[in-house]
Amino acid sequence: MRRKLVVGNWKMHGRLSTNTVLLDKVIAGVRELQRADYAVCVPYPYLSQVQSKLQATNIAWGAQNLNQFEEGAFTGAVSPGMLTDFGCRYVIIGHSERRGLFHESNEIASAKFDAALKAGLTPIFCVGETLAEREAGVTEQVVGKQLDAVLDCAGPKGLAKAVVAYEPVWAIGTGKTASPEQAQAVHAFIRQRVAQQDSQVAQALCILYGGSVKAGNSAELFAMPDIDGGLIGGAALVADDFVAICRAAQ
Ligand code: 13P
Repeated sequence: MRRKLVVGNWKMHGRLSTNTVLLDKVIAGVRELQRADYAVCVPYPYLSQVQSKLQATNIAWGAQNLNQFEEGAFTGAVSPGMLTDFGCRYVIIGHSERRGLFHESNEIASAKFDAALKAGLTPIFCVGETLAEREAGVTEQVVGKQLDAVLDCAGPKGLAKAVVAYEPVWAIGTGKTASPEQAQAVHAFIRQRVAQQDSQVAQALCILYGGSVKAGNSAELFAMPDIDGGLIGGAALVADDFVAICRAAQ
């Protein structure tokens, strides 16, 4: 049995004062939930805050991006070692907002994936198709290519130390979630693609669904056989909603 994982992706939201309120409520709400794993991925400036608030709790934390180089003249960039300095366990890699808004290619995403693994971080590697790609019937080609970029570089043994998140771009922040059946089909495809290289790694691989997961739809999504939890955007900013989603993963 794979253990479920729920990760909040705060994106570019939060302030010191509102984070405190949110974290206090989430800590209290999740404290008793021992049968799944939980984490939040926050903006860099708040890593110190979440480290001190979450270190004695059952909630891990991480970042939403990193730079693939260890150090150097890369103004504005943050290295993998800087994230481990703040106790990060996770880092989101290849989110569609990074791919789309910041022009991150499959090659850059896989270099970042590799750098995260080398630093001992667990990459949460995001894949997913746009609406145009889904309508053109090329979802599997797109997701397969994104996945192959890391499989070719890190191999199935590398993927064994990571989490994959399927996030259809058309479902992110739109309120239009994939149906449990639509999500399950792509999750099964991802697992099968990995199984072609290593069936044990595929069986153990944690594959999250992301895209308009809410308190009201999380249980039916998490009930699907290949959906191992969620990567939560908007609902992770509302304590009651995030706690309800965490509860649904129990
Ligand atoms: P929403 O839950 O707001 O749709 O965002 C999903 C997401 O992009 C998580 O990484």
